Amino acid sequence: MNSEREPTILESFQQAGMGRRTFLKFCAATASLLVLPAARAAEMAERLANMPRPTVIYLSFQECTGCLESLTRSFQPTLESLIFNTISLSYNDTLQAAAGEAAEAAREDAMRKAWGKYVLIVDGSIPRAEDGVYCVIAGKSALGSLSHAAEGAAAIIAIGTCAAFGGIPYAAPNPTGAASVQDLVGNRPVINLSGCPPIPEVITGTITYFLSFGVPDLDAYKRPVMFYGTSIHDRCYRRPFYDKGLFAKSFDDEGARNGWCLYELGCKGPVTYNGCATMKWNDGTSFPIESGHGCLGCSEPNFWDGGGFYQPLSAATGHWPKAEVLGAAAVLGSVAGIGTAVVARSRQRKLEAADSSKQQPGERSS
Ligand code: SF4
Ligand code: SF4
Ligand code: F3S
Repeated sequence: MNSEREPTILESFQQAGMGRRTFLKFCAATASLLVLPAARAAEMAERLANMPRPTVIYLSFQECTGCLESLTRSFQPTLESLIFNTISLSYNDTLQAAAGEAAEAAREDAMRKAWGKYVLIVDGSIPRAEDGVYCVIAGKSALGSLSHAAEGAAAIIAIGTCAAFGGIPYAAPNPTGAASVQDLVGNRPVINLSGCPPIPEVITGTITYFLSFGVPDLDAYKRPVMFYGTSIHDRCYRRPFYDKGLFAKSFDDEGARNGWCLYELGCKGPVTYNGCATMKWNDGTSFPIESGHGCLGCSEPNFWDGGGFYQPLSAATGHWPKAEVLGAAAVLGSVAGIGTAVVARSRQRKLEAADSSKQQPGERSS
């Protein structure tokens, strides 16, 4: 191997004592996460095998470190596999050993060497008020650091709802003038991985996909369709209860104990797009709804200001039709997947009205 050049990703695996077989297993598992067809999976393995490890610069601004905490819990690919074998993580102020001027100099050097080619990852929002004084690192405002780093980036991956949409710092009255990455960067591709925090495998899977094929198909909010293409509600295991009109009325009633739908307790699953219901968290162990709490809608813009966490969706939120307009809403189908459910609920109500003596605890009253 020519010592002047960066090792390829396959060579990095081999240098770490893992053979080609381990590399191919890594590729196969990642392709499975990304639901790639066999030919595309083989293409991904071929491309990654011959690619030098790309430089990644990870900047954190107004954030709580929850997004990075989430990333450290990725099971496929694992964070170790990603940063030791697949990418060259040149700057992350939490994970790196270096500190102070040495760390800042290393970042500048890495950016200069890979100018125009590195991947920029950002978590946290960017404060604009008072010339960005609310977030200053090494004497530079977040605003200045982002603008500079974005100039040399091949693409920017905004991790978490703070970076993607402003998140909690953006919530009213937004005292720091927080903004999202896409609000500030207009001349580079931006991929938003929303969620508070995002699912770890969504982060590692998107990075690996980008390295292999470039920017994936994105939805209107610049989120990869492969992870954000369906609502929580469409894949929720409690959906059969919703369709039958069986709702928990409180967190400790019989309906809750029976695992009924959490819609009336404020679940925002019908208007939230994320992979939680199928990918889940902690290696597929669980997700908020499986733990007995409704979805808060954390992967959507304005989730903090968008309505009470424990208020059912309704016409007042702009998301859900009132009972008297159910028929019209079903025809319009304004929110994907809701129309059929509305019809089912309407039918259920008629059945309940016809036989109210059989009403069960927690069931919607007619
Ligand atoms: Fe923290 Fe949530 Fe913002 Fe991530 S998106 S930095 S977890 S507040
Ligand atoms: Fe699941 Fe919530 Fe939809 Fe009920 S409203 S089926 S708990 S996503
Ligand atoms: Fe967030 Fe809802 Fe998933 S609150 S973690 S999008 S279930």
